[in-house]
Formats: sequence, structure tokens, C-alpha cells
Amino acid sequence: MPVPAAIDWSPDSWKQRLAAHQAVYADRAAVDAAVEKLRSLPPLVTSGEVDRLRALIADAQQGRRFLLQGGDCAETLADCRAEVIASKLKILLQMSLVLVHGLRRPVVRVGRFAGQYAKPRSSPVEARDGVTLPSYFGDLVNSAEFTPEARTPNPHLMVRGYQHAAMTLNFIRSLIAGGFADLHHPEYWDLRFLHHANLPEALRAEYQRMTSQLAEALRFMELLGEKSVDDLTSVEFFTSHEGLNLLYESAQTRSVPRRTGHYNLTTHLPWIGERTRALDGAHVEFFRGVRNPVGVKIGPRGTPDELLALIDALSPHNEAGRMVVIHRMGADAIARSLPPLLERVKKEGRTVLWVCDPMHGNGMTTTNGHKTRSFDAILREIELAAALHKQAGTILGGVHFELTGEDVTECLGGARGIKESDLSTNFTSLCDPRLNYEQAMEMAFLIARRVGG
Ligand code: PEP
Ligand code: CO
Repeated sequence: MPVPAAIDWSPDSWKQRLAAHQAVYADRAAVDAAVEKLRSLPPLVTSGEVDRLRALIADAQQGRRFLLQGGDCAETLADCRAEVIASKLKILLQMSLVLVHGLRRPVVRVGRFAGQYAKPRSSPVEARDGVTLPSYFGDLVNSAEFTPEARTPNPHLMVRGYQHAAMTLNFIRSLIAGGFADLHHPEYWDLRFLHHANLPEALRAEYQRMTSQLAEALRFMELLGEKSVDDLTSVEFFTSHEGLNLLYESAQTRSVPRRTGHYNLTTHLPWIGERTRALDGAHVEFFRGVRNPVGVKIGPRGTPDELLALIDALSPHNEAGRMVVIHRMGADAIARSLPPLLERVKKEGRTVLWVCDPMHGNGMTTTNGHKTRSFDAILREIELAAALHKQAGTILGGVHFELTGEDVTECLGGARGIKESDLSTNFTSLCDPRLNYEQAMEMAFLIARRVGG
């Protein structure tokens, strides 16, 4: 039975509600022109792909698949480059294979890419040396450089962002179509981090054992002509971003021939951030009307009543594959704040995919002012999430990371032992700190070992 279209909703009905964290533009005519231009461009994704992801998420809700979502905190236009995109794809691919092995479930790969250009900020302005300018709200809105020109919100950046998302996605699609990674032969993976000098011998041995086991298992399945090997290894990527800038999202939201309802065709999986999930706000109003699967982030202050109301607003038909709840509690808060949410949603029989974001509740600032996160806290939050879901009889169906394929030094710890004094070596994130290639791979191995099996 098709799900009926949302009542009293249109792609513009959000404009009647309070929209938090929206850019303030000075030139109304320039905004209209940018939105008109966006509207006229072809979509980035298709309704068929969105429906496919909804079906995969429905499986994940039942514990038959696992979602791996990851990418930059803030994607930048400058990083729309072949090597950066390819390394992001590679890290997600490699992590997903390790997770397939450890969790014994096919992995749905979802990038925070091709549109993760808009950021909510805790303060609308930033002061430096007595000068106050608008904060940096992501490349969709303004530029990071601390000058009045760069920081003034520019509506044309919505069009540029869209174009860069299109180029990113075009390259991703071509890489995949061209057989970017021969997944059947993981011994060809470039597991650089295994060769790192600082890696303890025991860890290296264990990781090598795991990858060769994985290669063996895949070869064996192939030999048997096992169909499921394709399901386990098929290289399918989906896109996601925080659906923050509603002008951008709504300009590409349309009805599609022979399907009911409207699709947001800027991305497969938009999510609503922790700061914009007000029940009566513009973001919930907008996303309740689109057919895409929709994520909502929830932090340690979120109550069971609040979450239930959000689920009912966004998924009133309790449709399979529709609702993704991304909890981001922090390692110290999760044992207290997650169980009441799990119990309530379970008791009320709502169908959601529970995803753990172990990044956003574990931020800290070092004494010399670096925003960072510790590898150990991130891992601890995931382990606790897995245990708490088990206790509650619910399913941890995915993980959500900020990571990069580059060799950055933004998060503390990991086998290489990044210390506070190392953070300034290569800290390039314009927003939150990301796991680097080695830390992300190590994380995948540890999740596979400690959460799987
Ligand atoms: C983010 O995902 O970068 C983010 C801002 O998260 P949250 O809404 O959970 O704070
Ligand atoms: Co972030």
C-alpha cells in the first residue's frame, strides 16, 4: 500500500514556521535568482535510488543490514578534487568490508558528501582581535576566510555548492561504474596503516589475520558461486547531508511521475540536526513531506516524549525504511540518556533505524584551543551503544562518523597515539575534528571485533 502524501504540506510550507540557523541574506532578489537557478537544474539523485535506499534501511531496521555513514563535518568546495573524493570513497569501502566481516551483515554505505556544505554554528558571529564578523556557516552560505567579503552570506554559493555536489557525485558514479575497487580481492587493498611503524605488533598481527580471513572467505564464497557475495560486496554508495538550508533543499524537491509524494533530489538521505529539530520548527515541517528516508539527530537532553513526537511527525505511517534516529550522546552520558529513548520507542512499536554517532557528544577543547575528540571516547560510546541496545532488545543498526581519507591530526589517540602537541601538525577541518585514515580503519576493526561476533 503506498503511503499517502503528507496533509497540508507543500515544498514551501516550511516558510510559515520558524526556521532556525538559516542564513541571513541582504539581497532578496539575488536569493530569488539563486533559488530559481537551482530549481531549473537537473536533480543529483533519482527517486528510484531514494526508494532503493529506503528498502535497504528497512532491512537494516530488522537487523539484516548495517549502515555505515561517514565523511567530513563540513565538506568544502576546495576539496572537490579527484584524490580527496577517491580517498573518501576508499576509506568507506575498506571500513565497510571490515564491518561486513565482523558483523556478518551486508553494509549500506552512505557518505556525508556531495552536499554537506551547510553548518549550524553555536554563535552567529565570531570575534578575532577585536573584529567581529559573521561565523562561517559552510561553503553553501559563506567562506571560511576571516574577511568581511568572505563572511558575508552569498546566495550564489547555493548554486556553486550544488554544482560542486554534482561534480563530486559524477566522479563517484564514474569511479564505481569503472570498477574503482575490486572488492573480491581485498588483499589488494592499500592498508597503509598496517605498515605504520608505531602500530603495536599484536594489533598489526590481529589486523593482518582478519584481512586475510576476509579475503579467504570471499574467495571461498566466490568459488561456490555464492550469490550473496555480490550482496555483501556490491559497490553501492548513497549520499547524505544535514538538510539545514531549506532554500537549497526545497528548490530541488519535486513530485515525480508515477510516484506519490515529493522527493528531495539533492540527496538520498537528508537528516535534521540536533539544533534544528524543534517539533514546530521549519525543518520538521519540511522533512515530514518528503519521501526520502529521513534522519534526526538526538543528544543527551532529548526526552522520550520529544523523540516519540518527532517520529510521529516525520513518520506518521510508521513506514518501514523511513525513519533513522541518530543518537549522539557522548560516552559519559549515553548509559543514562539512551535507555529511556530505546524503551519508549520499542514500547510504542515505532519502526526506526538506530544509528550511533559517537562524534558529536565527545567534543572537547584542548588548553591551546584546539577542538578535538578522543579515539577512546568515540570507541567507548559505540561499545556502550551496542551493549545498551542489546539490553533494551533494540538493534544498533548503524554508525555515523566524521572521517577523512587524508592523514590529518584532528582526533587524539588511536594506535599511532596522536597527542595534544601533534594536533597542529595537520588540522585542516573547518569545523569538527575528523578521524584520519588510520584511525578510521582501526575503529572499523575494533567495532568488528568488539561489537560483532
Ligand atoms: C554534524 O553532524 O556535523 C552536526 C552538527 O551534528 P549535530 O546536529 O548532531 O550536532
Ligand atoms: Co560535525
